[in-house]
Amino acid sequence: MKKILVTGGCGYIGGHTIVDLIQNGFDVISVDDLSRGSMKMLHGIEKIVGRPVKNYKVDLCNLDDTEAIFLENPDLVGVVHFAAFKTVPESVREPLMYFKNNLNSLINILQCAEDFDVDNFVFSSSCSVYGNPKELPVAESAPFMEPESPYARTKQMGEGICRDFTFFHKDFNTILLRYFNPVGAHPSGLIGEFQDISENLVPVITRTAIGKRPEMSVFGTDYPTRDGSCIRDYIHVCDIAHAHTLALQYIIEDRNKSNCEVFNLGTGTGVTVLELINAFERVSGQKLNYKLDKRRPGDVVEVYANNNKARSVLGWGTDFNLDAMMETAWRWEQALAAHKKVAIPG
Ligand code: WQD
Repeated sequence: MKKILVTGGCGYIGGHTIVDLIQNGFDVISVDDLSRGSMKMLHGIEKIVGRPVKNYKVDLCNLDDTEAIFLENPDLVGVVHFAAFKTVPESVREPLMYFKNNLNSLINILQCAEDFDVDNFVFSSSCSVYGNPKELPVAESAPFMEPESPYARTKQMGEGICRDFTFFHKDFNTILLRYFNPVGAHPSGLIGEFQDISENLVPVITRTAIGKRPEMSVFGTDYPTRDGSCIRDYIHVCDIAHAHTLALQYIIEDRNKSNCEVFNLGTGTGVTVLELINAFERVSGQKLNYKLDKRRPGDVVEVYANNNKARSVLGWGTDFNLDAMMETAWRWEQALAAHKKVAIPG
């Protein structure tokens, strides 16, 4: 089995990707310093795949500790790099912490990939590199606009570092995956977003529905959209995960046309905040306590993907529709509440 190193493997998208990689025949090890990730994610992964998965509790900003992982695993054929801070409001408050962590960890992992000849690399990027796109749906060829946050800027810079690195390393293959709005959880109800300090829409909805919050706000209903609320491209985390497996197979099998290719990962359909709330209420049977509030600074009005390239080149598709996204998100919130009662070790 081909062995892959997944950084940030105890995080939300990293954990779901490990499940997909293993279920598609890869051998996987994880590195996660657990500053944001959780061992509960690893336990959940092991329950789903039915085998142990090793995690190295290492800070990728420490080059010696990172190199030790590659020394111990000389049979690595690829890296999927998720490990990064990703909370937008936190990045606004702490830009230097974001630049230091997100860029140093990327530089170190690329340095190790070069030194140990691990020449298949998938980088976790984001639709936030587009800022407020001029054209919709947004294609990979769209220019980078001014990013809305330091987080988004670390993704723009991270892509640039990957491009410049592969420019002089023709035998090194990189895929940049730009996620739109990842939501939902694995259908098993065993893994999801464990430690969510974000204030993203879907976790806020499910926490309000289960009673962890008394109410929630809809940030702005006076935007130039069909119902006045912002439009996003919500995409199931399992569909995002499977794209990583397809991307690795694409470069390991040398099907790639250039050694640095980028793909949008979105459904291609824009959904407003109010439409998503209606979908959640319909699927969960829960009436949501929300109020129509003022706009949130920095919000992009409307963004959704042109995903034709991932479909035609990677053979990627989306298996989960909006109802399934809401249903699995709600199932996960209920599972978390049940875990609290039975105190899952981790
Ligand atoms: C979505 C919409 C809010 C909370 C995220 C990530 C970013 C990137 C893209 C991966 C907005 C509205 C939200 C609430 C609301 N993903 N909202 N009430 O801002 O699109 O960015 O996806 O890299 O990292 O942060 O996502 O879920 O915060 O907001 O009305 O309580 O929901 O105004 O219109 P966003 P979000």
